[in-house]
Amino acid sequence: MKALVLHGPNLNLLGRREPHLYGTLTLAEVDRLIREHARLRGIRVESRQSNAEGQHIDWLQRAEGEGFDGVVFNPGAFTHYSIALRDTVAAIGVPVVEVHLSNIHAREPFRRESVIAAAARGQIAGFGPQSYLLGLDALLGLGRAARTDRRATVRTPGSRARRRS
Ligand code: DQA
Repeated sequence: MKALVLHGPNLNLLGRREPHLYGTLTLAEVDRLIREHARLRGIRVESRQSNAEGQHIDWLQRAEGEGFDGVVFNPGAFTHYSIALRDTVAAIGVPVVEVHLSNIHAREPFRRESVIAAAARGQIAGFGPQSYLLGLDALLGLGRAARTDRRATVRTPGSRARRRS
């Protein structure tokens, strides 16, 4: 499996940005944890960070063409208002898992809503850098579920594909 990890705005400041909320690891250190976790699970992974909404839209739109099987996405503050990113997540074929370092549901009211979550396959929030690792595991699980599902679909002569019960 090949996974794309996208870090949204201000995540380049990790380590010195509100460490009581986001921890003391830098983005490079978080990416190292992500690479190590992926290596142990046989996932090929690539991490990218941008402060620009349009850049994330382009990366998401191109993910399938670039051969990624899924995306772990921390949209940062875009989470709470970017309908454009929501539409992109809804439009693309590859599964997207939304992740957050902090538990956005336990924070200010404006952070409790994600406009993206409903278009994503799911959301993981509140586990610090481990949220990204859980996101990778979720993508692995989705891949496995899809393979099981395909195996459970049998074709009999003259019939349409039917699911084994
Ligand atoms: C964040 C939560 C967002 O509300 C915030 O704007 C961020 C980081 C998180 O990872 O906890 O930039 O996405």
